[in-house]
Amino acid sequence: MKVSTMIWVGVAVLCCILTTRAQNSGCESCMTFKGAQCEASGGAGCACTLSMGTGSKLNVNCSKLFPKCFLMKKESYPGKGGRRIKPEGALVDNDGLYNPDCENDGNFKAKQCNETEICWCVNSAGVRRTEKGDKQTKTCSELVRTYWVIVQMKRANTDTVSDEDLKAALTKLITERYQLPAAFIQNIEFEGPYIYIDLKQNSTQKVPGAVDIADVGYYMEKDIKGDSLMSPDKKFEIPINGKNFLVQEPLIMYIDEKPHELSMKRLTAGVIAVIVVVVVAIVAGIVVLVITRRKRGRYEKAEMKEMNEMQKELNS
Ligand SMILES: *[C@@H]1O[C@H](CO)[C@@H](O)[C@H](O)[C@H]1NC(C)=O
Repeated sequence: MKVSTMIWVGVAVLCCILTTRAQNSGCESCMTFKGAQCEASGGAGCACTLSMGTGSKLNVNCSKLFPKCFLMKKESYPGKGGRRIKPEGALVDNDGLYNPDCENDGNFKAKQCNETEICWCVNSAGVRRTEKGDKQTKTCSELVRTYWVIVQMKRANTDTVSDEDLKAALTKLITERYQLPAAFIQNIEFEGPYIYIDLKQNSTQKVPGAVDIADVGYYMEKDIKGDSLMSPDKKFEIPINGKNFLVQEPLIMYIDEKPHELSMKRLTAGVIAVIVVVVVAIVAGIVVLVITRRKRGRYEKAEMKEMNEMQKELNS
């Protein structure tokens, strides 16, 4: 009796361990962001959180892309890469990467300061769109939406594939891996080794909770660079004819619903330069004209005098 009871207890314990293992295996990693922690919570549930530096934890949904603002915030924390103390005065090439301020829903705040006294305004993709200014005086009245994201990449193979196959594979990738509805993929173009994907989603099309084209651009850039944000279980591949079509050198471009104020300033500076050059040329022209006229006037007057004198001489 006792021995069989022990066997039964043993089997029950083993079963328990196995089932928890099995439950955990569906919950060990966060599919859409490897930096989030997941643990089983009651029944088949799985609760995932993202720890944000100073003890704060966000509840996150691992079946959807994470907002770019949260990802950048997570990425900008020190301690992630290496422990060595930076030598004094060392420069870090982090153009574009800063520690952003996010809204609770994951949107970027319009004004960003990267925890310094220098601030600037960003678009909905978190990209700087104005000149930098003093924290006290810089104002950003609204978060301007990036309605057009261009994903440029270069093919890293010499496979001959048809444009149609490549288009279909890329569309499948974007709609399945990043869950962006196909309606927002406006165009896929090929030009030599380059591939251009136009993603367009304006403010009326972007409903709360929907995948944002800026998030798709961010995930894609990381995927192509081989530094995927997603769980290692979710490999980045573009399968065509049973082979993985390789791409490299991603470049993401952002177009906002309002013109950004960076190139405008450069443009006005250029316009001013052109105006100055034109004005100087006109003034120089007038000066030259006046001088030549005066000279000519003198000659004419002199000629007149001579004529008069000649006439007087003749008369006398
Ligand atoms: C957004 O795009 C849709 C579809 O192209 C269009 O009907 C709508 O007018 C656009 N809205 C804005 C604010 O541009």
